[in-house]
Amino acid sequence: QIQSKEDVFDAYVAHGGRVEASHWMPDAYRKTLIRQVSQHAHSEIVGMLPEANWLISAPSLERKQILIAKVQDEAGHGLYLYSVAETLGAKRKDLTDALIDGRAKYSSVFNYPSLTWADVGTIGWLVDGAAILNQVTLCETSYGPYARAMIRICREESFHQRQGFEALYRMFAEGTDAQRSMIQDSINRWWAPSLMMFGPPDTDSNNSAQSMKWGIKIKTNDTLRQEFVNTIAKQSRIIGVTIPDPSLKWCPVSGNYVFTQPDWEEFYEVIGGRGMCNQDRLENIRRARDDNEWVMDAAEKYEAQQGNYAAG
Ligand code: ACO
Repeated sequence: QIQSKEDVFDAYVAHGGRVEASHWMPDAYRKTLIRQVSQHAHSEIVGMLPEANWLISAPSLERKQILIAKVQDEAGHGLYLYSVAETLGAKRKDLTDALIDGRAKYSSVFNYPSLTWADVGTIGWLVDGAAILNQVTLCETSYGPYARAMIRICREESFHQRQGFEALYRMFAEGTDAQRSMIQDSINRWWAPSLMMFGPPDTDSNNSAQSMKWGIKIKTNDTLRQEFVNTIAKQSRIIGVTIPDPSLKWCPVSGNYVFTQPDWEEFYEVIGGRGMCNQDRLENIRRARDDNEWVMDAAEKYEAQQGNYAAG
């Protein structure tokens, strides 16, 4: 019996085969990857904004150096990921336009404001902590260029998570009562948005079943969310903070922490463009594009000129 190209492809990825840019792939596989990878790239780029806010107010030279390095890393992650999308035939300019026009999504979590210095530590601990749990699995994703980019990104992301944990741990242990309540307030605000980062519950996740079949996703949204809660519940005791969920408790039968789901209506509002900071974030990205258009023009003209020289 003759198998279709799709069947051969499905069998190949089902057996752990790596797909490369030069391979044939179904249009829907390419489209799903461009959606996920570009959303991921946009998240890295928009994700610089809440923390960049604090660069000029970091409380010491050491903290400032760490934060600058971290924000620069996020820019680099965005660029690797746009390059991955380009290997699939997407154009970076189109992807950025889709972001600015509100046609493309980026992680909901970056539509919440960073109000205090403690938020920088909390973003590292919770937001980067959630990001890395998901991203470690993506090192095994079926599309080769994405998987390879993730290896490097995860190394840097792990530093981001650790610096956040260490900043909170030290401020909580050595700080004043006012600093301790600033940390607790920050965790109270970022807990639910961090849970939302893993995407809707599996029952409402449109893409999961197909993406798991294709090996694009390795673990489901709910599985990763549960792993996150289990990890953070333990780490919170080391820092000395309280997770703002009265129902959080260890269940020896399931070997997991029981926890309260975040408000999923709020999640859909935020990804629909109606979160606290959506407009502000996109306005920032639009301004950066418009202000720097002359650099892109010059680069394109230079490249064309080089091409003319090469052609003689
Ligand atoms: N923020 C914004 N949109 C989201 C989020 C979120 N936290 N979670 C899911 N969505 C969107 C999906 O893109 C999808 O959009 P669509 O309707 O246009 O298809 C829709 O909500 C339904 O979700 P799922 O079907 O579960 O989507 P998917 O299978 O893509 O899973 C997930 C979502 C887990 C985020 C996946 O895309 C992924 O692993 N992405 C790569 C990692 C990433 O983007 N991380 C962002 C943070 S990185 C950082 O911190 C800098």
